[in-house]
Amino acid sequence: MKWIKIRRNRKINQYGSSRKIFSQLLLPYNPTPEDLIRTVLHELTVKKGQVLYDLGCGDGRVLRIAAEEFGLHAVGYEIDTTRIQVCRETLRSLPLKIQKKIRIFEQDLFTADLNKADLVYIYGLPDVFPYLVHVIQTCQPDTILILVLYEPGETVKREMGIVIERKISIRNASWFAYIAKKMEKENSGAATGI
Ligand SMILES: C[S@@+](CC[C@H](N)C(=O)[O-])C[C@H]1O[C@@H](n2cnc3c(N)ncnc32)[C@H](O)[C@@H]1O
Repeated sequence: MKWIKIRRNRKINQYGSSRKIFSQLLLPYNPTPEDLIRTVLHELTVKKGQVLYDLGCGDGRVLRIAAEEFGLHAVGYEIDTTRIQVCRETLRSLPLKIQKKIRIFEQDLFTADLNKADLVYIYGLPDVFPYLVHVIQTCQPDTILILVLYEPGETVKREMGIVIERKISIRNASWFAYIAKKMEKENSGAATGI
């Protein structure tokens, strides 16, 4: 099955290091099981008031669980019109005080600025990761990245400037997430141009 379709409206460099790229990268919708979302946020011992971004937020379940059950502020980017409608319905069904913790952007995730993110949730294919380099560069050094199901290859990890710190799994490891952080600058291939 072909999972992604990439359409670029202008030429970009190898991994699109410019933040001005507006690529349309279409992942088919596939939701994360709610028990994985809960297990990950529980095991990361997230703190109330922290900010989680979900890049490609689908029906908004990650945002809802983060805000409603863990007291996080949650920001979602979603490009699919149908999904964003479902996501808005999810939001409207929540108590007002929870709604206030959630923001949804009908916007290309490749334009996201993650400067204020404590946690970034990404459920995307490995093919997507190289195009996320410029987005990850906007994270703070201590931002936690949650990569669902797929681990980037070694070269891409170096380009993204991240290291995988642990793997959290559920249901006999049939569902899992890699927990990553940005590399210290001196060890980063991206930063040193390796
Ligand atoms: C695998 S689903 C994950 C949904 C949700 N994060 C979850 O874990 O339940 C990926 C989502 O990314 C969205 N998506 C794909 N390309 C996107 C883009 N360029 N910008 C924003 N959202 C995008 C899709 O519409 C889809 O809803």
